[in-house]
Amino acid sequence: MSERILIAVAWPYADGPLHLGHIAGAYLPPDIFARYHRTKGNEVLMVSGSDQHGTPITIKAEQEGKTPGEIATQYHQQFLDSWQKLGISFDLFTTTGTANHAEVSCDIFLTLLDRGYIYKATVSQAYCPHCRRFLSDRYIEGTCPYCGSSGARGDQCDDCGKPMNPVELIDPRCRLCATTPQFKDSEHFFLKLTAFQDRLLAWVKQQTHWRQNVLNFTTRYLEQGLKDRAITRDINWGVPVPIKGFENKRIYVWFEAVIGYLSATKEWAKSSGNEEKWRSFWQDKDVKSYYFIGKDNILFHTIIWPAMLMGYGDLNLPYDVPANEFLTIEGRRLSTSRNWAVWLPDYLSRYDPDPLRYLLSINMPETADTDFSWREFIRRNNDELVATYGNLVHRVLTFVYRSFDGCVPMAGEFDSHSQAVIGMAEDTLNTMDGLLYRCRFREAIRSAMSLAQETNRYLDEKSPWKTIKQDRQASATALYVAIIVLSALSTVLYPFLPFSSQKLHEYLGFKGRIEDCGWKLNSPPPGQRLLSPEPLFSKLDEGLVDEETSRLGDIRC
Ligand code: MF3
Ligand code: ZN
Repeated sequence: MSERILIAVAWPYADGPLHLGHIAGAYLPPDIFARYHRTKGNEVLMVSGSDQHGTPITIKAEQEGKTPGEIATQYHQQFLDSWQKLGISFDLFTTTGTANHAEVSCDIFLTLLDRGYIYKATVSQAYCPHCRRFLSDRYIEGTCPYCGSSGARGDQCDDCGKPMNPVELIDPRCRLCATTPQFKDSEHFFLKLTAFQDRLLAWVKQQTHWRQNVLNFTTRYLEQGLKDRAITRDINWGVPVPIKGFENKRIYVWFEAVIGYLSATKEWAKSSGNEEKWRSFWQDKDVKSYYFIGKDNILFHTIIWPAMLMGYGDLNLPYDVPANEFLTIEGRRLSTSRNWAVWLPDYLSRYDPDPLRYLLSINMPETADTDFSWREFIRRNNDELVATYGNLVHRVLTFVYRSFDGCVPMAGEFDSHSQAVIGMAEDTLNTMDGLLYRCRFREAIRSAMSLAQETNRYLDEKSPWKTIKQDRQASATALYVAIIVLSALSTVLYPFLPFSSQKLHEYLGFKGRIEDCGWKLNSPPPGQRLLSPEPLFSKLDEGLVDEETSRLGDIRC
């Protein structure tokens, strides 16, 4: 029976280009998942958008002499372009700047206020007397009390990674003018997380299917006891607080960004022509919702957003939050400010999408941090994509194309080795089905590659290129077995390598989209005309390792 699945993807800040850490952490996994479910015939909705608000964007705008809106629009366009080139197949990628999003955010805010889950209180806030404005955490700089680094921010120190409150900073200064801030009283709204403590803990304890790291991290945090959190700020960029007297304040970016999952679904429903259709993804109890995020966002998705949903009521809680760990670059922690990052638009301007999707899948930071290195990228491209998978495809298709009039040959009887290979193709479809269903992407793609490897061995043994001279039937049989495997590989690798899989599908003589063919063996019938094959992948020069690594760490202007 077909399932309905909501795939909710973290909203990237529109304050700079995407990098490989984003892709491995939060964007490739949901795309693999979505393509898998669509192939299975399930109804998928995959939504996200640019996070337009928050201090990162106002800081960037000030640095560049632009408005936050200009920065957000610029990067939003770039994100859309990247998704298209990398094949990240959102059903909707919107922004938090829409009127719809503000409306849905206000509805949740006011409903929670009405029910007593949001309340007003006075707090002491850093204020710069020179700039005459309240300073959000990131606008305050100083010396880190933990490691002594001089560039720590009010929310955390990038050097040692410790989070903190602005008052802890030694020698705090305004990031814009270096004046020492004062602390002043200001009225704000708080989300009463304490009211959800018990319900959340009981709920989280039932989520035994969550990844161990997500479950442990969340449980530990809950057991330490929740604190209420301020959800408004003294800033002028963001969703306005819908209360009289609060015109100069905005809803805190995190409170409204998570609401984006719901507001995007509503936007999608409106543009589909059936405004009520959002309900089928949020109110139908059988629908599972998956939240794909990096590990730095776990608590917002396992505690804060669920608490908001519980308070609002009648909306599905997350079913799973398969957060990934981090990707390091050439053995070091990724740092955007030091340009220790591989930027996605740069990558896409020089290379094809599938080799990157391949490397990040087979080396996905699912249960531990993993490393990206250019040497490994080129090795895996050349040894695995080109030499193992690509070569299997190419030698079979070109030989069949040349020796059998461009048509799928008719097989004779299968010997036990041939049956074993066909059996392995079927098993791979089943095994990967189970793994993908449970978001175990890395293991899944590894089993596809074993099938390719095994089939190369089979062909080496059968040598149809040699037997064709004495025994055309034996040659045809071995090649037909290989073609069955190729059709299985085009299906099981499609979620990971959509571009080359679609090509392979067409070389096998099929028309239309592979996604519409189902998660099953779709082997072409004997006699089906093949399309003249081209290599699926190309070898990359080893010299690129030095060329690419030398770009790391440069100051970007
Ligand atoms: N913008 C946040 C970040 O890049 C992620 C927000 S995910 C959200 O870290 F959807 F919950 F907002
Ligand atoms: Zn100042």
